[in-house]
Formats: sequence, C-alpha cells, structure tokens
Amino acid sequence: MAPLALITGAAGLIGQYLLKTAPRWAPQWEVRGLTRQDVDLADAGAVRRFWRNLHPQVVIHCAAQSRPGPCQQNPILAHRINVEATALLAELSSDIPFFFFSSDQVFDGSKGWYVETDQVNPLNVYGETKAEAERLVLQNPRHSVIRVGLNAGTSPTGDRSFVEDMRNSVKSGKPLTLFTDEFRCPLPAGMTARAIWELIELNRPGLYHLGGAERLSRWEIGQALIPRYQELAGQMQPGSVKSYTGAPRPPDLSMSCDKLQALLSFPLSGLRTWLAARSSAGADLWDYESP
Ligand SMILES: NC(=O)c1ccc[n+]([C@@H]2O[C@H](COP(=O)([O-])OP(=O)(O)OC[C@H]3O[C@@H](n4cnc5c(N)ncnc54)[C@H](OP(=O)(O)O)[C@@H]3O)[C@@H](O)[C@H]2O)c1
Repeated sequence: MAPLALITGAAGLIGQYLLKTAPRWAPQWEVRGLTRQDVDLADAGAVRRFWRNLHPQVVIHCAAQSRPGPCQQNPILAHRINVEATALLAELSSDIPFFFFSSDQVFDGSKGWYVETDQVNPLNVYGETKAEAERLVLQNPRHSVIRVGLNAGTSPTGDRSFVEDMRNSVKSGKPLTLFTDEFRCPLPAGMTARAIWELIELNRPGLYHLGGAERLSRWEIGQALIPRYQELAGQMQPGSVKSYTGAPRPPDLSMSCDKLQALLSFPLSGLRTWLAARSSAGADLWDYESP
C-alpha cells in the first residue's frame, strides 16, 4: 500500500496545488487533503478524535489564517489556528516528517534578501503567530518549516491569491494602488508544491526559504501580469507603502533561497521570468508543468 501524505488546508491555494501536482511529482504517495469540512483544526478535541483513524507517513500543514488583516483584527483566533493548531498537529506527528508553512512576514522587511539564520522580528500579528509556531515546530528535529513568499495562482474559491485579489478588485471597480517601495519574491504556487514534494523525498528536515528568484515591487508584479490579464491595463496606479494605514507591512521581504535551491532539481525562477516564458501558452496559465 502507498504511504499516506496528509495535507491540511486542502481547499486553500497552496493545498490545492499540492493535491493537483501530486500525481506528477509524488505518484508514490497516496494523498489525502483535509478541509474545514473534515475537521475544525481549532477544535483540539475533534482533531485528536479525528486523528485516531489516520495513519499518515507525512503531514503537510497548509491550514492557517493566512491573511494579515483578519489576524490583526482577531489575534486570539489567529493564535488558535496559526499557533495552537500547529502545535497540536506537530505533537500528533512527532514520529513522522511534518512540514509547516511559515511566511516571509516573520521578518520586519528593513533589510531584504533574508537568509534562514537572520533574526526574525515580525511587525504584525500574522508574522508573530508564524514566528511563534516556527519555534514550536523546530523543536522536533524531524520537522520542517518552510517560509514561503507570495504565491501566485488560482484557487477553487477564486479569492485566495494576490493575482485573484487584483483581478477581483478591478472587476468590482475598486482602485488598485500598487506600492513601488514594497518588495517580495513571488512564485507560482505550483512551483511551491513541486519543491515541497521534492523536499519530502530528500528527507532533509529543517528551516528553508522558498520564494522566486526575482525581487519585485508590487507595482512591478502588476506590470508583469498585464500581458496575461489585459483587464488590469490602465487600472493600476503606483503608490507608496508609507501611505498605508492598515496592519503594519514589512517593506522588503525578499528572501535568499540558496539553501533550498542547492537541494532541488529545478530552478526557483522569478515570477516575471516565469510569466514571460508563458506568454504564448494556451492552457490555464497557472497549470504548473515545468519550471
Ligand atoms: N499564499 C501565499 O502567498 C502565502 C505566503 C506566505 C505564507 N503562506 C502560508 O502558506 C500556507 C498556505 O497558504 P494558502 O495561501 O494556501 O492559504 P489559504 O488559501 O488561506 O488556505 C488556508 C486554508 O486553511 C483552512 N483553515 C483555516 N482555519 C481552519 C480551521 N480552523 N480548520 C480547518 N481548516 C482551516 C482554510 O479554510 P477556509 O477556506 O474554510 O477558511 C483554507 O482552506 C499558510 O500557512 C499561509 O500562511 C501563504
């Protein structure tokens, strides 16, 4: 019988890509995705009961409150899912590999090109919950923390990725201001999924950064998307993160991914380069086949 890989947050953006890329990149695994309909991960008793019938050989934990805004508005709920549920799942997975998705937002964004050994200093509740959960997860030497950058793609609900956010915003007639002084290393979610499947096979637990190779401002990201999404043309205006009044935003979260790149069989290309190489593709842009 094939070993079981369990994916939490399977209805979300990255969970979906892990599920749909598994036949290609991880055919040796039986893959099961868990959604909120299966079990509320914030209900510890329900999780423990549910777990009795599961015998996974690896757990990929994607479920989270993944948006900084709601975390800032409800820190208790954010802590419950991002920290407490993660700690519980790590405990239940103590004898097997466990992969926790953290974020570039554990850093304050003052430096850029962060490496794994850099000091964390989150500016917002979301980043704080991720930093706290990282510390708990890494207590187990079998377990891994993957700090991912902005993931691009399409989700079943159509409202998960920043690409969908931008398109939805334009569709509803809302002004789209993109910061020229906020930098990220975006990558397609399918590339994230492929890297995780490879990392699982490599059996090299630890802390890794996983982002695209290009440091792009939000404005540059928007410009790179125009050839594929004509409706964005003329609808974006440049702005500055200094004028933003919501949850604190780290300005430069570019990450060096050399540690992970040295292990992978494919390049973690930058999003702009990746998009340019697909300008004539007829199929769904985000159907990830090759780097
Ligand atoms: N996408 C990115 O750009 C990005 C960047 C950096 C880090 N990350 C991290 O990567 C991981 C995956 O991100 P993602 O973009 O796939 O997030 P996502 O699309 O928001 O998916 C998260 C999933 O978790 C589920 N969930 C939340 N609370 C739950 C609960 N109490 N019980 C069961 N399920 C629950 C959500 O279900 P509902 O839909 O029902 O709420 C959702 O399906 C997260 O840890 C995120 O913080 C993502």
